[in-house]
Amino acid sequence: MNLRPYAPTDLLRVVEVFGSSIHSLAAPFYTAEQLSAWAPTAPDIAGWERRLEALHTVIAEQNDIIAGFASYEDDGHLDLLFTHPAFARRGVATRLYLQVESALRTAQVAKIFTEASLAARPFFENHGFQVDAEELVERRGVQLRRFAMHKKIRDA
Ligand SMILES: CC(C)(COP(=O)(O)OP(=O)(O)OC[C@H]1O[C@@H](n2cnc3c(N)ncnc32)[C@H](O)[C@@H]1OP(=O)(O)O)[C@@H](O)C(=O)NCCC(=O)NCCS
Repeated sequence: MNLRPYAPTDLLRVVEVFGSSIHSLAAPFYTAEQLSAWAPTAPDIAGWERRLEALHTVIAEQNDIIAGFASYEDDGHLDLLFTHPAFARRGVATRLYLQVESALRTAQVAKIFTEASLAARPFFENHGFQVDAEELVERRGVQLRRFAMHKKIRDA
């Protein structure tokens, strides 16, 4: 498995990983209506292009297949972390997360924070995150439960 920075030519494949990850790995935790609101069948590609332009994104790749990706911001916000269902529970998200944590440590960021889905909460707890609050977020008129979580990586 190779980790590398996102390139604009990855756009469609990244959006595909996002959709299949949600519709497969998050499916046990949300209703069909919630899953469709979170990852619609016709994604807004231009919106994704703009969103990814503003983030640092790390791609995990195996034999030219994108196995997962993680996107973060300079302030320690881990915005996106998604594994392709064919690669689930094989350490892909862990590899991506550790790379992000390492980059943020180097940048002397004090804490990493994220909004974890019901599917991802155990993963983040496993990596030392604490829950700050349970949230309801609205996507296309539908509410989804998630958790604001953080991990301190440096003494302030
Ligand atoms: C959460 C997610 C990123 C984890 O990806 P992954 O590549 O399968 O994770 P890893 O293989 O690195 O898992 C490492 C550990 O995290 C924990 N973990 C991961 N997924 C878990 C799950 N569904 N339930 C319980 N523990 C889980 C386990 O302890 C796991 O170790 P183990 O497999 O040895 O038991 C992935 O399931 C996913 O993309 N989910 C759907 C989308 C989503 O919710 N993304 C996050 C948005 S906030």
